[in-house]
Amino acid sequence: MFSMRITIFIFFVLTMLFSACQAPRPKAEGFKDAHSFSNTDSVRIRHMDLNLNLDFEQHTLSGVVTLKIDNLKKARTLVLDTRDLEIFKVEAQGDNPGRTYTLGSVATDYMGAPLTIRLQPGDSVISVAYKTSPNAAALQWLNPEQTAGKKYPFLFSQSQAILARTWVPCQDTPGVRFTYSATIQAPKELLVLMSASNPKEKNKTGIYHFEMEQPIPSYLLALAAGDLRFRAFDGRSGVYAEPEMIDKAAYEFADTPNMIQTAEKLYGPYRWGRYDILVLPPSFPFGGMENPRLTFATPTVITGDRSLVSLIAHELAHSWSGNLVTNATWNDIWLNEGFTTYFELRIMEALYGREYEEMLEQIGYQDLQRTLEELGSDNPDTRLALNVDDRDPDEALSLIAYEKGRSFLKMLEIEFGRPRFDAFLKKYFDTYAFQSMDTEHFTQYLRDNLIKHRRRVEGQIHLREWIYEPGLPENCPVPDSPEFRKVDEQRMAFLKGTPAEKLDVKGWSTHHWLHFIRALPRKMTTDQMAALDTAFSLSASPNSEIAYAWFRQAIGHEYAPALPYIKRFLLHVGRAKFVVPLYTALNSHKAYRQFARDVYKKAREGYHPVAYGAVDRLLRQ
Ligand code: BES
Ligand code: ZN
Repeated sequence: MFSMRITIFIFFVLTMLFSACQAPRPKAEGFKDAHSFSNTDSVRIRHMDLNLNLDFEQHTLSGVVTLKIDNLKKARTLVLDTRDLEIFKVEAQGDNPGRTYTLGSVATDYMGAPLTIRLQPGDSVISVAYKTSPNAAALQWLNPEQTAGKKYPFLFSQSQAILARTWVPCQDTPGVRFTYSATIQAPKELLVLMSASNPKEKNKTGIYHFEMEQPIPSYLLALAAGDLRFRAFDGRSGVYAEPEMIDKAAYEFADTPNMIQTAEKLYGPYRWGRYDILVLPPSFPFGGMENPRLTFATPTVITGDRSLVSLIAHELAHSWSGNLVTNATWNDIWLNEGFTTYFELRIMEALYGREYEEMLEQIGYQDLQRTLEELGSDNPDTRLALNVDDRDPDEALSLIAYEKGRSFLKMLEIEFGRPRFDAFLKKYFDTYAFQSMDTEHFTQYLRDNLIKHRRRVEGQIHLREWIYEPGLPENCPVPDSPEFRKVDEQRMAFLKGTPAEKLDVKGWSTHHWLHFIRALPRKMTTDQMAALDTAFSLSASPNSEIAYAWFRQAIGHEYAPALPYIKRFLLHVGRAKFVVPLYTALNSHKAYRQFARDVYKKAREGYHPVAYGAVDRLLRQ
């Protein structure tokens, strides 16, 4: 009897230990996020209801946000993040609804100001009436001229990283998740969409209702309104775009259903119901944004030949890495972007083959090398585990999170073999679905579930160095692309004197061209540049990636004939990944400094606050 009990007890202890080993629970009280004022260790938002009116004359959103809260530790206050918001009134549900509040002072502009609300025992619903500023950093209000149709205005939001607080008072930290519902009123000519259940067409009232049933962190709150049409790919995915763009968009992204199926085969079911894409006007400051159920995408990937669709694979992959398992703080962004970049390439390989994937890998590796050169290999910002606590998280984000993160996972794949690594990732997404993860907990999970506490192996793979040290460990996989070796041959031939029009470029894809242009030497004559431009119309390329790569060479070589094209590009496109490096390059050439300023003076008003914020910082220096 006694020994039976002991046996059961030992069994119990072992099971506990074993399961604890398998899946370390993220800390119950949450993670300390330096980028939020909110007191999330004692109170947490569980559900948000938004009731907003869009005012295209004033460029404001106004209305009420109602928060269902869990007061875990009988806190006397609820602290929310706000930035540039006008607060009118705070109320609680119940007999005595009025609640006093204070809006703190602004220390750093990116943090905004804490809104501290007095709570009474039993308070579980708090509502805040407020209005946004016309300069809200998350929002871009577009004039009709900035749209494809030129007839109706357009609005869109960009909440990542810490801009949600400029349009909704909330606990603006990736460590808190809530479900949401919303009622939005817009001018009747516009269709409203959110990162939630969405309408497929306009209604007569201009009032739209939304539900998001899965809990999300604040940075995934998203809103857009414009003259939009919908086209289905199949029963669970489709695309929204302006009428002028809808055919092109539907053609370009037609492989989306296959991408979803491929992703599911790799890492488990898609958990968000629908997956739709919204094509935005060209001022959208990113390539894409993984807003749940509705990826926001730049129109600059619509090339007519489907050659830049890895962007969709990337945003879709975030439905697991990021939206399901979320970086706990902005220091852990590599857990989102590195995993997503790895996953993106796995989708591309499964759908389009190894050769295609090798080209993407090579392009990414070049980006990584270039970033290391620019930042310096001993720069702390080249670590995977960042420390951005005292900075705007946007400022410290670089391709390191993406490409060093991807390389790290690729290294693990090579060391442990694909079958084991895939099983590990699938289980990781499943175990931590709808939770936050920080670098320490992930590292522990990796030790427990893949490395299995073998010290020798841990040393061999340079685990600590990969995660906590700057630069690149010696076991970083170096990709090889046979396709690009063919491109190298043509480049060498050109540099040895073969005329540009005699080069063998038959069948070259966007990626072949990107490699050709990127690998051109630092010193070439104007005649050589002109010969390439004449033969292949590079300055006038309608492909944004090719044009951008060429413009960087043109600026580097002071090839003046490209300037009018660069100007046209900068006036049309607001994607920060293009715009910021182009202004940087122009600004570092004495001859082009004035040109950069003149173009920017005109272009600035067409950019989203995220893009002009970055260019302002740059040109001010
Ligand atoms: N989530 C990011 C965009 C982002 C990151 C916005 C951090 C704000 C802060 C998105 O998934 C992304 O990585 N977009 C890339 C495209 C991708 C194919 C590399 C972009 O916009 O270039
Ligand atoms: Zn991403």
